[in-house]
Amino acid sequence: MPSNPRIFLSPPHMGGRELDYVKVAFDSNYIAPLGPMVDAFEEAFAKIVGIPHVLALSSGTAAMHLALRNLGVGPGDEVFASTLTFIGSVTPTVFQGATPVFIDADRATWNMDPDLLQTELERCNRRGCLPKAVVPTDLYGQCSDYARIRKVCQPYGVPVIIDAAESLGATCNGSPAGVGGQSAVFSFNGNKIITTSGGGMLASPNAEFIERARFLSQQARDPAPHYQHSTIGYNYRMSNIVAAIGLGQLEALADRVAQRREIFDRYRQRLGKLPGIDFMPEASYGRCNRWLTVVLIDSRAFGADRETVRLALEAENIESRPVWKPMHLQPVFQVVEKPAATNIKRPVFNDHGPCFTSGVHAPVPARAVGGEVAEDLFVNGLCLPSGTAMSESDLERIMAVIESCCRNG
Ligand SMILES: Cc1ncc(COP(=O)(O)O)c(C=O)c1O
Repeated sequence: MPSNPRIFLSPPHMGGRELDYVKVAFDSNYIAPLGPMVDAFEEAFAKIVGIPHVLALSSGTAAMHLALRNLGVGPGDEVFASTLTFIGSVTPTVFQGATPVFIDADRATWNMDPDLLQTELERCNRRGCLPKAVVPTDLYGQCSDYARIRKVCQPYGVPVIIDAAESLGATCNGSPAGVGGQSAVFSFNGNKIITTSGGGMLASPNAEFIERARFLSQQARDPAPHYQHSTIGYNYRMSNIVAAIGLGQLEALADRVAQRREIFDRYRQRLGKLPGIDFMPEASYGRCNRWLTVVLIDSRAFGADRETVRLALEAENIESRPVWKPMHLQPVFQVVEKPAATNIKRPVFNDHGPCFTSGVHAPVPARAVGGEVAEDLFVNGLCLPSGTAMSESDLERIMAVIESCCRNG
């Protein structure tokens, strides 16, 4: 066992006022879902993201589920999503019995490729089977190209739900992440740029949309003195205690963005000098929050591959992670339309068996549009520790291990 303390990928970092707000919540005895802290958190959040109607929920996944349910997504429908994402962006489509269609990433931004999206929408339109929604993920804190995606979707009337789970605090064309979609989803999971331990937010310029989501998130109670239900809802609301943490965290958001960007700069200044090391590019249209610093390792130039570097870090008790395994490669999905064939030798991806064989889900049908860019980023991309509470010596330890892996130059 290494004696060094563990460095985590993106641990929580409290701002200082969280406990005070939790104490206020305790003193008021609102130890419950909903309450004044939830109201205050929603109000502060709406101001910061510049989206007037918001709903605090138990997770980002819940927020995505409500957004899709609200749009009437159901069996027989398709929902387009980024293939390079976390599965919480996609499972709600499956909850609703619809089929996910995975769109490849644009190499310039690592986000959903607007050209591929356009081609696929044109094709679907000709066949009379447009998707019910498009869900681009703002990968690792970089906004998708909202303007282009909107322009592509608008002629067909296809709504865009922005998965901004990772991009709170980033900007796109000068506006906060999440602005410009039919709705947007945020996450406050423990690893995010700010956290409530677990939680999420659904945001929309459409008041009615949020009101309907509110109704569904609270067990779909009809307005009656007794408990009456005319439709099936969920128990998805955020608790008052959790919201108190969120209120404190929001106050630190601007600092956290600046700190994450500084961590990225430190990595780039030093590791960028090594042969074969590249970084996730920043799109010209926005300002990334650099939630995670991600490097691309060209194994031939660097002299070691991504997995060798990851294991070397792990041996020193440092957590790092491969870039998200693309959705079209996940064993749970049966991609009925394969990505276009290429002549590059494709690596074997399903090298890890399922965890609980008795509980393996029957493969869920899905489609994929391209996929090679995401595959390449998965094979060669590594997310480095990016927590804002990291010390100077932590950063030094991480960079020294990476440098020691370099066999060229
Ligand atoms: C891109 C993306 N979408 C959705 C989610 C789901 O959010 P949550 O974990 O709050 O359910 C996450 C993160 O966890 C995410 O990174």
